[in-house]
Formats: sequence, C-alpha cells, structure tokens
Amino acid sequence: MKSTFVKSLKIGNVPLKNNIALAPLAGFTDVAFRRLCKECGAGLTTTEMVSVNGLKYRNEKTEILLRCFEGESPTCVQLFGSDPDVFFEVIKDCAALKKFDIIDINMGCPMPKVTKTGAGSALLDDTSRAAEIVQAAKAAADGRPVTVKMRLGREDKSGAERFAAEMEKAGAAMLTVHGRTVRQLYSGTADWQAIARVKAAVKIPVLGNGDVASADDFEKKLAESGADGVAIGRGALGNPSLFGEILNGKILGKREAAILHAEYMSEYFSESYAVANFRKHAAHYLKGVPNIKQIKTRIMSERNFDGVIGILKEL
Ligand SMILES: Cc1cc2nc3c(=O)[nH]c(=O)nc-3n(C[C@H](O)[C@H](O)[C@H](O)COP(=O)(O)O)c2cc1C
Repeated sequence: MKSTFVKSLKIGNVPLKNNIALAPLAGFTDVAFRRLCKECGAGLTTTEMVSVNGLKYRNEKTEILLRCFEGESPTCVQLFGSDPDVFFEVIKDCAALKKFDIIDINMGCPMPKVTKTGAGSALLDDTSRAAEIVQAAKAAADGRPVTVKMRLGREDKSGAERFAAEMEKAGAAMLTVHGRTVRQLYSGTADWQAIARVKAAVKIPVLGNGDVASADDFEKKLAESGADGVAIGRGALGNPSLFGEILNGKILGKREAAILHAEYMSEYFSESYAVANFRKHAAHYLKGVPNIKQIKTRIMSERNFDGVIGILKEL
C-alpha cells in the first residue's frame, strides 16, 4: 500500500508529482541515472552540482553535467559558487541553463576545494552572502523557482533555523535540509529532530535529507520531522527501485535495473565514458550479492559496453 506520507508538492509555480526527490550526488546523478530514478517514480531529479564559474568560462566538462532526458519534467539544475554577480550573469545569459525549470543552490558541500572559494557549505557561515546569491539567482531566473540545499551548520546546529528563515526571506521557494553538520561529513546519523526545527521555522516546503534507505525510513523520518518530503541520495545507489518501493509502484530487480542503467548510459555518453562511469554504479548494484567477486573484477576491467552487458546478464 502506498504510504499516507506520499503527497504532491509545489515548488513556487512548479508542481511535483510526489514529495520524493533524488538528491544530487556528484559523479552519480547523471542523466542516465536520473532517468532510471524518474521511471521508478522520483518526483524530482536534480543534476549534480555545477560550477557557475565553469559555466561563465564555458568549461567543456560542464556540458555533460547539464544533459537532460526527454520527459525530465520538472528539470532542476544545482549550481555552486560564491559570487552573487556570477550567479546572476550565468542564470540570465547561459543558454544551457534555459531548459531548467528549477534552480537549486548548493550550500552544503563540505569539500575543501569548494569551501575554500567561499562556496558550498562555506555559505552557512556567511548568511548575508548566501541571501545575496538567492536574490541574484531569483532576479535572473525569469520567474523560475530558486531553491537551496543546506546542512545544519558548520559545527553546531543552533543557527540552522535562522539561516533557513533568511533564505526564505531572500526568496528561496524550497529548502532541502541534510540533517548533518559540515564537520560530520557523512558520519553518524542525520538529525531529523533538527530538520523538524527548520521545518517549523519557515513556511516554504522543506525536504528532509539523510539516511532514507527504505519505505519504512521514509515514513518514520517524515513522521518525526513533519517535513514536506524527502530527498534520497545514497539509498538510491544500486537501488533505484527504492522510489517504487515507497510509492508502491515500479520495482526492478537488481539485475534488470543494472542492465537498464548501463543501456541508458550508452544512450547518452560515449562508450569509454559510459563503461568507466558505470563501474561506480556496478559496485553498488553488486553489493550484498553472494559469490560476486569474480563478476565484480571482470566488470571493473571490461572496456567494451557489450562486454559489460554480457557480464550483467550472467547475474
Ligand atoms: C558521492 C556523493 C556526492 C554528492 N554530491 C552532492 C552534490 O553534487 N550536491 C549536493 O547538494 N549534495 C551532494 N551530496 C550530498 C547528498 O545530496 C546528500 O545530502 C547526502 O548524501 C545525505 O543524504 P543520503 O543519506 O540520502 O545520501 C553528495 C553525497 C555523496 C555521498
């Protein structure tokens, strides 16, 4: 039976079919994986984070990150950077961003190469700059909603509600809150009580995020937090059917999902890129499968796409 916590949601003027989003995961949530998750029921799919400076200086590598599939509706791009003027400029002028219905801003990434430039989670310590970025993005977005993905704070969580309220005041249409501090990285467990406090501090929709890996988690964490929905990251790796499980909808077996996933990668990417990038996903599909060592080794060294599919079919 479908959970009573499943509901439709509106982000600004953009309706979502349901309140279960795929969280952005750099190196994983490319167009092929997003398509698979969408087909399994995800209500919102977002690109991995894309640098506004990369867009400004037309870095070739960013193009691949902005690919969408036909029917990816709504489309959402996640941007990172630290200069409000650059956000304004690229959202206004960059042709490749026009196809996106929602613009999400990363304020949670803990990686030093991002935070040392003042971007990602560094913005949690600079509320006025973060608010300026939201305002600039909104001014350039032509009516499209601008959303924010944040953590609870750098070391302590006490500023999370105020930060969230400031983002709302600056014009954010939704918040995704990862229930960890920056210092925690991905360790410990996500604090859904803290997410509840953020939810209570704002009127815009809040997606809770962190450690949702089953339909049971979905129910418990929404009951605990009162959040409007969830964003699922690692729980979907090797298990895109998690969306179907929560929705009582489409469920693919691991083998079927892995094959479809590899086929989608070959549709959007060159053979060498698809084969190399699928390896990371393969490790997740194969997790927990007994007697899999040999198959795993073969997939990791296979260079041809047909070879990868052949090995998966042996599963
Ligand atoms: C490999 C990896 C890459 C990630 N990349 C991004 C990213 O590009 N943008 C972002 O906002 N969060 C990123 N995150 C954080 C996730 O979106 C999410 O907040 C976090 O994993 C907690 O949710 P989960 O327990 O459902 O995975 C990343 C996390 C991981 C593990």
